[in-house]
Amino acid sequence: MRWLITGGSGFIGTNLATHLTERGDEVVVIDDLSRNGSELNAAFLLEKYRLEPHRVDVSNRAQMEDFFAQEKPFDAIAHLAGQVSFLASLEDPRRDFEVNAIGTLNVLEQVRLHSPETAVIGMSSNKVYGDLTQIRMVEEETRYVAPDYPRGFGENLPLEFHGPYGCSKGTADQYLSDYGRMFHLRTASLRQSSVYGPHQHPRSDQGWVAHLLEEAVAGRTIQLNGVGKQVRDLLHATDLARLFVALEETIDAGVGYQLNVGGGVENSLSILELFAWIEDKTGLSVDFRTGQARPSDQLVFVSANETVSALTGWAPEVSVDTGLSRLLAGLTR
Ligand SMILES: NC(=O)c1ccc[n+]([C@@H]2O[C@H](COP(=O)([O-])OP(=O)(O)OC[C@H]3O[C@@H](n4cnc5c(N)ncnc54)[C@H](O)[C@@H]3O)[C@@H](O)[C@H]2O)c1
Repeated sequence: MRWLITGGSGFIGTNLATHLTERGDEVVVIDDLSRNGSELNAAFLLEKYRLEPHRVDVSNRAQMEDFFAQEKPFDAIAHLAGQVSFLASLEDPRRDFEVNAIGTLNVLEQVRLHSPETAVIGMSSNKVYGDLTQIRMVEEETRYVAPDYPRGFGENLPLEFHGPYGCSKGTADQYLSDYGRMFHLRTASLRQSSVYGPHQHPRSDQGWVAHLLEEAVAGRTIQLNGVGKQVRDLLHATDLARLFVALEETIDAGVGYQLNVGGGVENSLSILELFAWIEDKTGLSVDFRTGQARPSDQLVFVSANETVSALTGWAPEVSVDTGLSRLLAGLTR
């Protein structure tokens, strides 16, 4: 198998490149190294697997055409390159659109024109469902819950793109599906919220699990957006990497799969519960202040995983306790 990973020096890309290389697949990486920490990941992949990223900007059509002309064909593409921050999308909506929407179109066009049998698996977002204010949410002691969705949300939630990031990811999500249907390509768009694991270089607005863990272990006072009861289902990056392989083996042409993907209800966690977990494991006391909620922040997003599991047989294997313990061990080593 020959894979292309766009954004392959990013957090998820580095975990995927590791997984694919370890199983004997050939991996080609493109990345513009614009993300803080992507150079560190690139250095890791170079040293460990002799993998060097091609410096290509996915939003640049000429660069993409040159790259594909030289390097095609691929059996599968994991399209991970993206502008990943909701806040950055508010500061520079045009760049956000260029990277997330045009970048995805550039990938799809290369496949449509030159290698229509290549599978394309793209990373979308729970943000395509808007802020979910239409869903009844109840505040409990440590978390919000959506009592009408005890097993999490399926793909039948109405689409509602909020914020430039939601719009650009939503556009990419729709193009992925539509190219599947219209041009009979093998595409899938994964809608997930929080992925965590090694090789993540978090910021306050992206990679919240690793960010809060780092801040807590460093003993810094943490300023929260909201009251800390927001819930996400945490998906470990190694579980996501296994899913890419399972999807490549299963997805048919002509469908344009749209799949909610996450750690599922068993691996759902609120920020307050994360703090309680840290205090329990480390004996530290986490110092935090509550604050204004972020615009358009969903109170709960938990993926039901029913469609993706029925399609591929995949299910998350790394429990939150195991995944967090590994992260913590990495920080305190
Ligand atoms: N991490 C999560 O929890 C999460 C959740 C939902 C969706 N996603 C999506 O998954 C994908 C990967 O996320 P991640 O967490 O690994 O982010 P990341 O920032 O670690 O990785 C993205 C990589 O893309 C590269 N990149 C950015 N713009 C580029 C461009 N124009 N051309 C080429 N490379 C470019 C960056 O340098 C970086 O290495 C993104 O599309 C993101 O929106 C991630």
